[in-house]
Amino acid sequence: MANDATPPPSDQMAATTLNDGLSSSMWAQFSDRVLIRSIVCRSDGGVGLAGQMIRVGGWVKTGREQGKGSFAFLELNDGSCPANLQVIVDKEVSPLEQLVHTGTCIYVQGLLKEPPEGTKQKVELRVEKIIDVGPVDPAKYPLPKTRLTLEFLRDFVHLRPRTNTISAVARIRNALAYATHTFFQKHGFLYVHTPIITTSDCEGAGEMFQVTTLFSDAEKLEKELKQNPPPSESEIEAAKLLVKEKGDIVSQLKSAKANKEAINAAVSELTRAKDSLARLEERSKLKPGLPEKDGKIDYSRDFFARQAFLTVSGQLQVEGFACALSSVYTFGPTFRAEHSHTSRHLAEFWMVEPEIAFADLKDNMNCAEAYVKFLCQWLLDNCLDDMEFMVKNFDKTAIDRLKMVASTPFERISYTEAVQLLENVTDKKFDNKVEWGIDLSSEHERYLTEVVFKKPVIVYNYPKTIKAFYMRLNDDMKTVAAMDVLVPKVGELVGGSQREERYVVIEKRILEMGLPLEPYDWYLDLRRYGTVKHSGFGLGFERMLLFATGIDNIRDVIPFPRYPGRADL
Ligand code: 4AD
Ligand code: MG
Repeated sequence: MANDATPPPSDQMAATTLNDGLSSSMWAQFSDRVLIRSIVCRSDGGVGLAGQMIRVGGWVKTGREQGKGSFAFLELNDGSCPANLQVIVDKEVSPLEQLVHTGTCIYVQGLLKEPPEGTKQKVELRVEKIIDVGPVDPAKYPLPKTRLTLEFLRDFVHLRPRTNTISAVARIRNALAYATHTFFQKHGFLYVHTPIITTSDCEGAGEMFQVTTLFSDAEKLEKELKQNPPPSESEIEAAKLLVKEKGDIVSQLKSAKANKEAINAAVSELTRAKDSLARLEERSKLKPGLPEKDGKIDYSRDFFARQAFLTVSGQLQVEGFACALSSVYTFGPTFRAEHSHTSRHLAEFWMVEPEIAFADLKDNMNCAEAYVKFLCQWLLDNCLDDMEFMVKNFDKTAIDRLKMVASTPFERISYTEAVQLLENVTDKKFDNKVEWGIDLSSEHERYLTEVVFKKPVIVYNYPKTIKAFYMRLNDDMKTVAAMDVLVPKVGELVGGSQREERYVVIEKRILEMGLPLEPYDWYLDLRRYGTVKHSGFGLGFERMLLFATGIDNIRDVIPFPRYPGRADL
């Protein structure tokens, strides 16, 4: 992601003067400054740039006045890398008090210089001109210099990107997203945007958030009825009486053979009276609360004229594209209304879901393995400084784990073999009993990958009773062609399967699982018309971040975590 643009045209003059002798790749795009990364992350630590006049901007990590208040040292970070640039400001250039507080934003121009012998940085910036300051009141700033826990920072999700950890996670997350698109594009997959609002429950687990305007409509109506109450019975009676009177007048005029204008005028009055009665009667039917029909909520009055939900997975829709374009993937937010308070579950998380036509379970496993390996290698190649930060602060083994996964073939065992292995474990007591037919829990998954094999494990052919309806039934009629990729530190990282492409079989499976056929009718069309063997999987993007960074809680690897009881901002 090298920045190899020429200086921004908006300030070409300033850029040319300031940039004299500097590589154009140092300049931030669309912003008249040099990225701190391009100074301090050079192989010479920036020393080769000494003597250059540049502009930088960033936020003060730490600042202190020195030399009896004659100058200040500021550690400046602009988010382009984990390292800071040391900045020195003399009191003649600016009042120092406004610059030194953690969180202060400064945009400055100055000369890069070699610092005196014995200091750890290779280059520092002597400020000649302050262009802009975004001050901070240290008494009020919620993120002081002291080491803050990740849990504390969750109360400040809007400010926490300023911390070393959350900014490193943001860069790693960005790199993994870029790597994801690179991998699939390189392998000829087409990126498809699947819907966020859906009417089909992909996993059939009933863990969906409902999307409805019925409540806000009901609230609006209640307010409106308070301001403008429905008509009373006597008002309606009076309106009816008026209609009758006006009707009588029309009849009288007609029988008296009155002139046409008089009759027309009386008919208009009658029509007005009837309209007014109709309006009153309509309003008298308005009731506060949700619309009902036959004792149930009437969803035909909802926004989409039916029940709708936030998607739990883009799989079903992306299958439609795979059954036309062959190799596709979707990458988007997914939502699950599970009440899990674990460190591995979110209510809103991102999933990468490839879907491959003419591919069986083995092809699917090969793809998942190649993709996960590619992600690991990508971080080693592109994010080493952030990974080193993780090793130092969170998980000593994070880089070794990436190296191991990038270079070691994954173990592949059937569910039946996995259960046999776990049943024979004697050195550990599991909280959840192991027997054929159980859904493996996190403790079992982690034991397999961390203790037994010490590398990623793909478990395949699970009992049909614990997996989703769309997975292909195996010939034993007991298991389905499912596969989960389990990795150390996390457990389940990927879940996928070969899809059931046989119309009769999948219809039977839907019914067997007690699901209604109607919402899946369109999905069955993919089997009715031109059905094809196909397979796919979903990789939990935040699980991948947990695995890569070694951070313990999934709430700290997504910018804005949503979980039961919490949806800030
Ligand atoms: O195993 P899951 O439920 O599979 C599916 O949703 C399939 N439709 C995917 C497909 O075949 N296209 O979810 C896939 C992955 C899991 O392996 C896990 O990594 C992650 O999504 N995941 C979660 N991540 C965070 N919070 C949650 N609540 C998660 N639920 C699943
Ligand atoms: Mg799963």
